[in-house]
Amino acid sequence: MARDGAIYACQSCGAVQTKWAGQCPACGAWNSLVEETQTRPPGALAPGKAGRQRGLAFEGLEDETPAPPRIATGVDEFDRVCGGGVVPGSAILLGGDPGVGKSTLLLQVAAEAARRGARCAYISGEEAVEQVRSRAQRMGLADAPVKLAAETSLRAIVDGLKREPFDLVVIDSIQTLWSDAHEAGPGSVTQVRAATGELVRLAKKQGVAVLLVGHVTKEGTIAGPRVIEHMVDAVLAFEGERGYPFRILRGAKNRFGATDEIGVFEMGDAGLAEVKNPSALFLNTSGERAAGAAVFAGIEGSRPVLVEFQALVAPSAYGTPRRAVVGWDSGRLAMVLAVLEARCGLSLGDRDVYLNVAGGLRITEPAADLAAAAALASSALDQALPQDCVVFGEISLSGEVRSVSRSESRLKEAAKLGFRRALGPSGLDGGGAMGVTGVSRLADAVRRIGEGEWT
Ligand code: TYD
Ligand code: MG
Repeated sequence: MARDGAIYACQSCGAVQTKWAGQCPACGAWNSLVEETQTRPPGALAPGKAGRQRGLAFEGLEDETPAPPRIATGVDEFDRVCGGGVVPGSAILLGGDPGVGKSTLLLQVAAEAARRGARCAYISGEEAVEQVRSRAQRMGLADAPVKLAAETSLRAIVDGLKREPFDLVVIDSIQTLWSDAHEAGPGSVTQVRAATGELVRLAKKQGVAVLLVGHVTKEGTIAGPRVIEHMVDAVLAFEGERGYPFRILRGAKNRFGATDEIGVFEMGDAGLAEVKNPSALFLNTSGERAAGAAVFAGIEGSRPVLVEFQALVAPSAYGTPRRAVVGWDSGRLAMVLAVLEARCGLSLGDRDVYLNVAGGLRITEPAADLAAAAALASSALDQALPQDCVVFGEISLSGEVRSVSRSESRLKEAAKLGFRRALGPSGLDGGGAMGVTGVSRLADAVRRIGEGEWT
């Protein structure tokens, strides 16, 4: 049954080929195929056949399932993204760029959970125990009863975890582990997949929550580990822009909760501080709002977040004008520029355009279209929006401004933070606290910005 043979695994997408090629036929990545020797222990790849089950036992949809128990780690922003704490027996992958703070976050999670009585282990394959300990001391976590180990051998880790029961185990990182059942090097698809498979099985069997760190490549995929996203119960992404202290934790997949929640942290000298109310965090509150700035009233997960969009439209020095965007989708920017040009008569084709979301937040809501468009129009026309105005609304290709979900919460939070005006889709109800400028077409919004006509 066991079969040994050379295979070529793409280190980018994980597709396996029988022949080497310069380009991966599956994902198109160049020079990503690496020879790996696949050893298949009997039954290892056929888990369905491993257990000797006779027949299937069906159950009804209406049958009651109790909610899974949860370990509240005490790091509330982390627990929120996990869906209200970590589920025992689940495997969670935390991805992010090197240096973003993954080790710091999970050390903090393990320490806080241990302080609350959970049995926690932190196993590092990247740092020595002394390094982890001295970091914990700097972060003021030295008193937490977390068990530390430095180990990269999968066999040693699994044996250790079978001997000693834990509630929560951190593995930092999945790319450093190696299993002696496979010849491929650590970090290769074969190794990462094997290590994850074994740890997920262990998690289910022992009822321990396993938190795996996975480094991400430049393309934004978890290196190699993209191939393990389907094996784990939840995938969380830790993000942050260089130069800003803010870090955002997002759920990309969660079998035990919603994926639209975010957790907000601020990196400081003593580790990550939780930001419980991030709504005003990304606002530039000092000084006048300049031309080119528009405050977007956004919703991240269950919470409203106000964030400033900053645009600069400038004459281009070169034949091909530049388009640069930070914190927003460049495709979306291209669309908004095209609509401004085609439906609003705002000629931007020969000008450089820069768009920046302040504070290092990445916005994905379509509701931000109008805020981006307002910032661009404000810069192009050199007319500042009123200081106390928030903007939101989705823009269609025909130039219409569409209504968006949860308008009421957006307006309420803006009012709470001292904003008195809103520019948005027609039909908005400011409820007396806000003067609402409702527009059904983007052209109308652009005209109002140019003429300074506000409700
Ligand atoms: P780290 O958790 O090691 O990142 P990752 O595991 O994602 O690679 O964090 C690295 C960065 O965080 C490093 O540049 C230093 C910074 N940092 C602080 O600013 N304050 C702190 O208290 C700690 C522990 C790290
Ligand atoms: Mg690390």
